[in-house]
Amino acid sequence: MMTRLLFSNSLLLFFLLHCSTTTAQSPAAAPAPPGPTNVTKILEKAGQFSVFIRLLKATQEDLTLNGQLNDSNNGITIFAPSDSAFSSLKSGALNSLNDQEKSELVQFHIIPNFLSTSQFQTVSNPLTTQAGTGDRLELNVTTSGNSVNITTGLTNTSTSGTIYTDNQLAIYQVDKVLQPIDIFTPKPPAPAPAPEKAKKSKTAESPTVSKDSSGAVSTFAHYNLILFGIGIATAMFPL
Ligand SMILES: *[C@@H]1O[C@H](CO)[C@@H](O)[C@H](O)[C@H]1NC(C)=O
Ligand SMILES: *[C@@H]1O[C@H](CO)[C@@H](O)[C@H](O)[C@H]1NC(C)=O
Ligand SMILES: *[C@@H]1O[C@H](CO)[C@@H](O)[C@H](O)[C@H]1NC(C)=O
Ligand SMILES: *[C@@H]1O[C@H](CO)[C@@H](O)[C@H](O)[C@H]1NC(C)=O
Ligand SMILES: *[C@@H]1O[C@H](CO)[C@@H](O)[C@H](O)[C@H]1NC(C)=O
Repeated sequence: MMTRLLFSNSLLLFFLLHCSTTTAQSPAAAPAPPGPTNVTKILEKAGQFSVFIRLLKATQEDLTLNGQLNDSNNGITIFAPSDSAFSSLKSGALNSLNDQEKSELVQFHIIPNFLSTSQFQTVSNPLTTQAGTGDRLELNVTTSGNSVNITTGLTNTSTSGTIYTDNQLAIYQVDKVLQPIDIFTPKPPAPAPAPEKAKKSKTAESPTVSKDSSGAVSTFAHYNLILFGIGIATAMFPL
């Protein structure tokens, strides 16, 4: 009993020692920052993400993220656009966004689950981002070797590297800002035939649909009323 305990203790000790020496020996492995994970700190260390960091702070998404990382065990995946991604946006595009749109844009780059590169192979499209779901907020991925292709309907790009990963947080670099249709829908200059089509599909997803379906609901209710009436009539005048 005693020797067994001793043995397992020394095994543990060996394991701990071994672990700590391996971490100490490999400078390539970015040591996890002490304390709760701090996303902006990781990005600052990586460099080239100053615009994204500024947006994370301005929208207070950094606080939300750090809180989520501390509280939830689903983890977080971030597609972090590099500074050059932002500089290739149309000039003024970022400044023309209001605060709510800025939040939505930042949240669109964040998946409320940890996804390793291999897990991207099995996720179902569209992904749910922190910005929510809906056909104006679609983010689809396909894998291609070690990189992940991403499309939003407006932006096609692929991850260009892994900035950070543990089993909770994954940060991948993207060299384009992922533009959700919801914020950056191009306003077409309206040549006749094309907008006709666009209009049609828009009608299909616009509130007209709910009008139609509420019409359907009231017809249905009406129908029920008739049935109910028939029911009463049958009760009153049994055949
Ligand atoms: C995260 O790191 C940034 C910069 O490194 C710092 O300004 C901020 O206070 C840190 N946040 C927390 C919650 O520790
Ligand atoms: C992290 O979570 C623990 C337990 O839920 C809590 O006590 C602590 O205050 C949290 N820390 C931060 C920085 O949110
Ligand atoms: C990913 O994108 C590259 C070009 O960016 C393309 O050549 C490749 O076929 C794409 N792969 C998938 C699986 O979509
Ligand atoms: C994303 O994938 C879904 C399901 O495959 C598809 O219906 C949708 O059109 C795709 N959206 C984009 C923007 O590629
Ligand atoms: C993105 O890729 C898809 C499929 O390869 C293509 O149909 C679409 O035109 C591309 N969109 C942009 C904005 O490049």
